[in-house]
Amino acid sequence: MVDEKQRWASETLAPTLAKAAEQPIGSRTGINLNAEGNAQFTSISGAPVERLYTEADLPHEWQPPDPGEPPYTRGIHATGYGGRLWTMRQFSGFASPEETNLRYKYLLANGGNGLSVAFDLPTLMGRDSDDPLSEGEVGKCGVAIDSLEDMETLFDGINLETTSVSMTINSPACVLWAMYLAVAERQGADLAKLSGTLQNDILKEYIAQKEYLYPPAPSMRLVVDTLEYGAVITPRYNPISISGYHIREAGSTALQELAFTLYDGIEYVEWALRRGMKIDDFAPRLSFFFNSHNDFFEEIAKFRAARKLWHSVMTERFGAKNIRSHWMRFHTQTAGVSLTAQQPKNNIARVALQALAAVLGGTQSLHTDAFDEALALPTEDAARIALRTQQILAYESGVANVGDPLGGSYFVEKLTSNMEEGARSYFKKLDEIGGMVRAIEQGYPQREIAEASYRYQRAVEAGEKTIVGVNSFTVEEPPPETLYIGESVREAQTAKLRSLRSRRSNQAVDRALSALCRAAEREPAASHTGISSANTMPALLDCVRALATVGEICTALERVFGEYQEAAFA
Ligand code: 3HC
Repeated sequence: MVDEKQRWASETLAPTLAKAAEQPIGSRTGINLNAEGNAQFTSISGAPVERLYTEADLPHEWQPPDPGEPPYTRGIHATGYGGRLWTMRQFSGFASPEETNLRYKYLLANGGNGLSVAFDLPTLMGRDSDDPLSEGEVGKCGVAIDSLEDMETLFDGINLETTSVSMTINSPACVLWAMYLAVAERQGADLAKLSGTLQNDILKEYIAQKEYLYPPAPSMRLVVDTLEYGAVITPRYNPISISGYHIREAGSTALQELAFTLYDGIEYVEWALRRGMKIDDFAPRLSFFFNSHNDFFEEIAKFRAARKLWHSVMTERFGAKNIRSHWMRFHTQTAGVSLTAQQPKNNIARVALQALAAVLGGTQSLHTDAFDEALALPTEDAARIALRTQQILAYESGVANVGDPLGGSYFVEKLTSNMEEGARSYFKKLDEIGGMVRAIEQGYPQREIAEASYRYQRAVEAGEKTIVGVNSFTVEEPPPETLYIGESVREAQTAKLRSLRSRRSNQAVDRALSALCRAAEREPAASHTGISSANTMPALLDCVRALATVGEICTALERVFGEYQEAAFA
């Protein structure tokens, strides 16, 4: 049988090319000339893209499952979004707990149906607002939280038992989670009903975001403590959100984001099993978090391949029996790194396309970036447009009516299969290295990402990748009004800390911190109650209830674990 593509190329393509050759380098993203001088299309990640896909490109004897059926390539729920729209969960937090509390009430009143807490850099790095190293950062990239009292202010008037709350915090995740649980306790909430997600993904900090405090092994121990504690005390709360977002923002390709994120998931599972946990006791509450970048079809294929791969990891590698362990549930944030400071209103179009890709890819929860976020934290107006973008997709576009509407597309199915294949080769390489912690210590994922990021930037600067408004279609225009956060937040937080330390029982704080250190010094072992006697969460709860601050707790743990210095990699 004559190859269909050869027939098409000679009978149909050739005369067209004779009339109008494909556009040269730089006319638009993804088109370059190959060695023979012919146009070669590539994705934003540099993956080659054919001009034509046909049935011949589908995997051999291809017959995909239907939505809600294993391996869930086409979605984990039979009804897609028919049963429930994705959660519109806008990442938000700035200045003081009081100001962020008002923003949360504004977002909930405007149709947002889940909260997502953004903490400021001092909190992310386990430091108090009055720490000299916090100067210039208090309340700037997120909300400043120093104590249980700040956490109580943050959620004032918000019922934690009925409001799903996600918290983007990593190295000090267990500390902020203890504060959240203590606030829920003070509200009289049933902890078993709490829903939400703790990011708590320390591996991607070593790989990409670099907001780590302690060396990998003790950091992994703290994560497993939360998985173990959550499995017993907060069965509806997701104690970890295994994140690819920051890996992508660091410059990885879509495939590296997929492969490294899922392999991070494998590493967390391995460490929890070594603690003696049973896979189906914690795997249903593992959740994921991906980026949605500009290359529309590449992103959709990435999400579809992620579900299929995770199903295979859970069933074949770990023998999980509970179908909820097999589900890949994920949140998506549109690509912050794709936002341009130039002509910022163009970002509304970028975010809409990226959000559409996430929805067609079956995301469970979505954050849409505000158009001004390349310049500053979003204004209220920009934050509302971002949320309205999701609502237009959900209620006007019709894309939420059908599960996996692009399933069966030759192009999408081929891209999905390529993604799966590429990820499996990375898994094999990481297995050979001996796991992700070892790979990080060798700098393997870090180097892979650095090389990908360099290749992409070189292509942009050579004009082979077009960024509208930046290296093409440019205009001179004044920047828009942006949100400004001054130093008053640091002053207010410092005053609150002074008052707190004068009111609380400092003996009680010292006792709680010493008990925490004693737990941290012991190696946790499996326990028939499901929570190891050396699990640090109970001691952390005692510390926050005694009004120990984030900085005091993290410093105490640093005395036990030490501070991590990343080796310099070639
Ligand atoms: N049919 C039947 N049931 C359905 C359904 C359907 N079609 N769709 C959903 N459901 C059910 C689910 O099974 C679930 O039931 P359960 O409570 O019994 O489990 C319930 O409805 C809620 O659905 P989801 O769990 O899918 O939705 P959530 O929004 O609650 O959770 C998640 C989504 C991805 C699982 C969760 O982990 C999450 O919300 N993650 C968000 C994390 C986040 O906000 N991160 C922000 C990071 S910002 C950042 O890091 C970037 C910065 O650093 C720059």
